[in-house]
Amino acid sequence: MTQLKQLDLYQTRINQYLADKLAAYEINDKRLLSAMQYGLLIGGKRMRPYLSYITGDALGLELSDVDGIAAALECIHAFSLIHDDLPSMDDDDLRRGQPTCHKAFDEATAILAGDSLQTLAFDILVNHNFSDKVESKRVSLIRQLVHASGYQGMCGGQALDISATNKKISLIELEKLHSLKTGALLKASVTMVAEISNDITDNEKHQLAIYAEHVGLAYQVRDDIIDIISSDEELGKPAGSDVSANKSTYPALLGLAGAQQKADNLYQQALQALATLPYNTDNLAEFATFIIKRAH
Ligand code: IPE
Ligand code: IPE
Ligand code: MG
Ligand code: MG
Ligand code: MG
Repeated sequence: MTQLKQLDLYQTRINQYLADKLAAYEINDKRLLSAMQYGLLIGGKRMRPYLSYITGDALGLELSDVDGIAAALECIHAFSLIHDDLPSMDDDDLRRGQPTCHKAFDEATAILAGDSLQTLAFDILVNHNFSDKVESKRVSLIRQLVHASGYQGMCGGQALDISATNKKISLIELEKLHSLKTGALLKASVTMVAEISNDITDNEKHQLAIYAEHVGLAYQVRDDIIDIISSDEELGKPAGSDVSANKSTYPALLGLAGAQQKADNLYQQALQALATLPYNTDNLAEFATFIIKRAH
């Protein structure tokens, strides 16, 4: 299995940033704060922050500037998972090896913890101590996160997911659904970092975006596959959840081999985009390899 370089380092870095942020937060309701900590700080592979940090490395950026982007994205992701598990959505009981937030607390608290993590993401982008040369990019970063998170991004994809449940949809519709619900945040993990570089050309930005789009879609294709081939223990979430909920997934439409072929094709396209770039993109290439092979 591919070992992601500096994964421990970047996981520790983002965990510290997020823990410090919540510790500094003045929240009157202790139960709400506990649910936010539960959803944000316990477990999680931190793949979106990792992708942001390795993009920053490739472009020669300051890690302290990348911190704000990585943290904001992980907050949106944690919010999306808490809401995704609710009875009105996927109705799952296990997440990151623990009872889901609404099981550990209650539904109202889980909804509010998700809402609060969403606003925390924007709080971070508004207040992060970016270096002077990045300061002028703050509004465009906020705009990108809005686009990736809301109805034009993750939430829009989740809405398509719900309406595609118990239904057979076309491959084109499924690609749109997956690109939005999961691809959008992973794409933003790269493009928001590219946004703060003052040296990158428009074409290089475009090629990085193509890489990220393909990796982001492949991430969900592989998530659909591991829902079938892995166990609860490996996943830390209920295996077989998509099949029992009759979700529209790549294996449901193409079979397991067809779904993996799709992931492999996306991987090749991601690598082609990287090959055009004049940077050391080895870690970005390794990341693409990792996500199409991962077992959890
Ligand atoms: C799970 O995401 C949900 C998807 C968008 C596929 P991850 O597999 O990145 O979950 P964590 O953050 O590691 O728990
Ligand atoms: C989740 O897709 C995408 C989100 C925006 C959270 P899934 O419903 O497949 O994610 P898991 O498998 O529950 O992590
Ligand atoms: Mg779901
Ligand atoms: Mg789910
Ligand atoms: Mg899934």
